[in-house]
Amino acid sequence: MPAPTHQDPGLLSDDVARFIPSGVDPSILPRSFALVEPLPARAPVPDSWSVVPRFEGSSNRYIATIPTDPQTSLYGTGEVAGPLCRNGFVTECWAKQPFRIEKDGKPAPHYDEKSKSLYQAHPWVLAVRGDGSAFGVLADTTYRLEIDLRDGIRLGSAQPFPVIVIDCASPQEVVERLSDLTGRIELPPRWTLGYHQCRFSYYPGARVHGLAEEFRKRRLPCDVIWVDIHYMDAYKVFTFDPAGFPDPKATNDFLHRLGFKSVWILDPAVKVEVGYSVYDEGVAEGHFLSDAQGQEHHEWTWPGDAAFPDYTRPETRAWWARLTAEFLEYGMDGVWVDLNEPSPILPLGAELPEDLRHGGGADIPPGVHAQYHNVYGLLMSKATRDAMCKARPNRRPFVLTRSSYLGGQRYAATWTGDNSSTWEHLHWSVPMALNLGLSGQPYSGPDVGGFAGTPSPELFAHWMGVGALLPFFRTHNALHGDQEPWSFGERTEAQSRLALARRYRLLPYLYTLFHDAATMGRPVARPLFFADPADLSLREEDHAFLLGGDLLVQPQLLKADTHAFAVPKGHWRSFTLAGEDPVADPAHPVLRLRDGAILPVGPGGQTSDEAFEGPLTLVVSLDAKGAAVGRLYEDAGEGFGYLEGDYLLTTYRAVLKDGVVELDVAQQEGQRPRPARELHVELLTDAGVVRASEIDGQVVMVQRR
Ligand code: GLC
Repeated sequence: MPAPTHQDPGLLSDDVARFIPSGVDPSILPRSFALVEPLPARAPVPDSWSVVPRFEGSSNRYIATIPTDPQTSLYGTGEVAGPLCRNGFVTECWAKQPFRIEKDGKPAPHYDEKSKSLYQAHPWVLAVRGDGSAFGVLADTTYRLEIDLRDGIRLGSAQPFPVIVIDCASPQEVVERLSDLTGRIELPPRWTLGYHQCRFSYYPGARVHGLAEEFRKRRLPCDVIWVDIHYMDAYKVFTFDPAGFPDPKATNDFLHRLGFKSVWILDPAVKVEVGYSVYDEGVAEGHFLSDAQGQEHHEWTWPGDAAFPDYTRPETRAWWARLTAEFLEYGMDGVWVDLNEPSPILPLGAELPEDLRHGGGADIPPGVHAQYHNVYGLLMSKATRDAMCKARPNRRPFVLTRSSYLGGQRYAATWTGDNSSTWEHLHWSVPMALNLGLSGQPYSGPDVGGFAGTPSPELFAHWMGVGALLPFFRTHNALHGDQEPWSFGERTEAQSRLALARRYRLLPYLYTLFHDAATMGRPVARPLFFADPADLSLREEDHAFLLGGDLLVQPQLLKADTHAFAVPKGHWRSFTLAGEDPVADPAHPVLRLRDGAILPVGPGGQTSDEAFEGPLTLVVSLDAKGAAVGRLYEDAGEGFGYLEGDYLLTTYRAVLKDGVVELDVAQQEGQRPRPARELHVELLTDAGVVRASEIDGQVVMVQRR
């Protein structure tokens, strides 16, 4: 019998076990930041347990290996560029702002598939076996960790770490179990599911107003306008540029009057400037990171020399929360936290020294930056989220963060950082969102159109087309040309309008998926192999994806349409939403509905509020037995009444009987009254669409042709 490489493994639940390397004193292992709460072992791991890591190494290199067979496909590892399937890749969990120097005057991509580390760290691998069963491996450490997937799973770090293994019958179950351990998103404010327009930066305030008016004038749906760093006075966080943004409250009031929400950026770094109250307070109260000699540490960021708050300290988080709460008094609806890997701006690629000292406090022990670097963004997100909750106890918080760590979905949504206006980055928008979803973070999306560079009209139109079907839908760009839906001419504007119309019509379905993410940990955008995990032909498909379980999205992500989509078994009927021209335009992904599904679709509108009023359409695709089922979650869209029962979760059911399809409410949950609204039914058949109308809540009969 080989010598054991682990000690006292502990069964945490029926399908979750934790392993600790032998020879490591468990009491010296740092507290977990991934887990919602410490998990005591319930029992010894049974002999039948199949995935047991092999530990080796000591002193300054600890390795855990898990062999896999050739049919096992590997996913997750968080925020990674490149293909969905991660076999053959090496990722380093080390939050980092990737940077490339521009070549020949052209912007070089900030990251590409060779980048080992991006802004977030997710020490997590999802492995799907040949038979469709799956397991997940969580290296429970915040230290730098290498995940080498070139030959099985090999994890390496300079510090010892426990390995948690989740073993289930399907990848869906593994991802849901992961969310039991690392937490789920909170149900976001419903407006955040609408379209967001951002750039670096809309300046001055008058330009923000003009932008908002332009959206309404052109009747392009939009919910949120974003305000990037130029609103600050000389890039000093928590200040306003007196010339460009003399009255931020007036800007927010203006946006609100036109039915918009606003999200404003905050960077962690605080300019070193005596007399600037944020810096002075930070110094006086000891909020900044210092080196081993106790000297406050400075790096060059947007405002110049800057100090970094130590979010491991409860006092610093409370201070940050107070400043954020004061900031929110100007009427911002959401907060965007950036550069929180944390990243200096110059020299390019600079990082904070790993021996900086973090003070900790309460349940966080003091430690060096090497230990807390990867959770800097997570702790900043938490402090910001807590500030929003405290300042507005009756509103749902919304924080978008660039850096995060496994479990960060508990506090903030995320985006995939500074991508580029290239077809390659358009493609990666999909697998990046999918792998984040498989790593516990369902709420993400790319900078639509690309951050660095200027997209061609065609590229922008395709990006709008697919961006409209990803969880977080925001256009953003750097200091290049304009990137509004109308910036590329009439044709692109019309294409963008159709993409937006689709998004707004699909919002009831999307909101239901967010509810499932918040309650069950299911990703919103899902890889195709979720439809049939044992079908090996689906494993590498990363152009097409699933929205929820029922909607198959087939986008054209290459300039020339050369991709052959893998398609899961079953009958996935393509359809267009009523009012759409037949979608011959490759900028708009083909939509297919699973047979046996009912898709709830709203009327669309200029804002997300409008999109939830008025008639409801149920698109029905019967299965071979003549049945279909679909769910719709509804609530006030804001606030916490839903936690007290003010919601309505309806299960609609359609059954074919004697040539007639009968559709009714099979089940409902929650105390929210059913809106008195028209119900339109669209039955997809191989011969075309059959339509019928009734009042929601009554039985609708559709004569099948
Ligand atoms: C960073 C962010 C980008 C933002 C810019 C200015 O590069 O990733 O989204 O626009 O900083 O704040």
